[in-house]
Amino acid sequence: MIIGSKLLHFSSLTSTNEYAKSIINTAKEGTVIIADKQIAGKGRFDRHWYSPDSGLWFSIILKPKKTSLFSLVIGIALCDALETIGMEPHIRWPNDILIRTKKVAGILTEVENDTIIVGVGLNVNVRTFPNNLKNNATSLILESGKSFEKKKVLGLILEKIENRYNMLKDNKIQALLNDWRRFSITLSRKVTVEMPHCVVQGEAIDIDEEGALLLKTEGGSIQKIIAGDCRICYVTSDS
Ligand code: BTN
Repeated sequence: MIIGSKLLHFSSLTSTNEYAKSIINTAKEGTVIIADKQIAGKGRFDRHWYSPDSGLWFSIILKPKKTSLFSLVIGIALCDALETIGMEPHIRWPNDILIRTKKVAGILTEVENDTIIVGVGLNVNVRTFPNNLKNNATSLILESGKSFEKKKVLGLILEKIENRYNMLKDNKIQALLNDWRRFSITLSRKVTVEMPHCVVQGEAIDIDEEGALLLKTEGGSIQKIIAGDCRICYVTSDS
């Protein structure tokens, strides 16, 4: 396996993504940086990521030839791993991992020159969340009633990422997109996507080969969304 061939384990870091960036020029591909807890864990759009020592926080340094579908591939791999341990995970575009309607894991992908740092945060044994998160966040322990050995969960996730990364390298794009669609909780629903400068609403009809979300707006036009924060309307017309 390339991924995890070198593993750097810390009891505490500001952020595993930040540490990965600091060693980017010397680290070999597949290096994994893991911290028991993060003091300043980072989420998408520069948000704070709650990272107590009951969760799994790690980053991988990779040099993929194709970067566009990369984050989606990591999302699929996380779902593969969660399914293996008996959960029913879903992906909310682009790559929030949910169980039922709550977020259990997030992925932060950062690109520096030809290198990608992919940071994964998974709420494994987190029992309580701060007030601002508790309505929308969940964990494996809250969903299943049992605690998980973080080392084992990490091993499983790395194995699944390796499999999916190999599919990307072998250009098995349609198979990857189909698996993403299978896990998706976004497609065929009315969604609101918030971007830094605007908000778009519509029905999520598909993703394209670059991983962009295709939205059919009320006016009937199709909008291609490359990045944003997606909120889902769970009420369907027949409910
Ligand atoms: C999101 O906003 O959904 C992405 C969250 C990504 C969090 C992980 S935890 C490990 C890595 N280090 C960080 O500082 N962030 C990512």
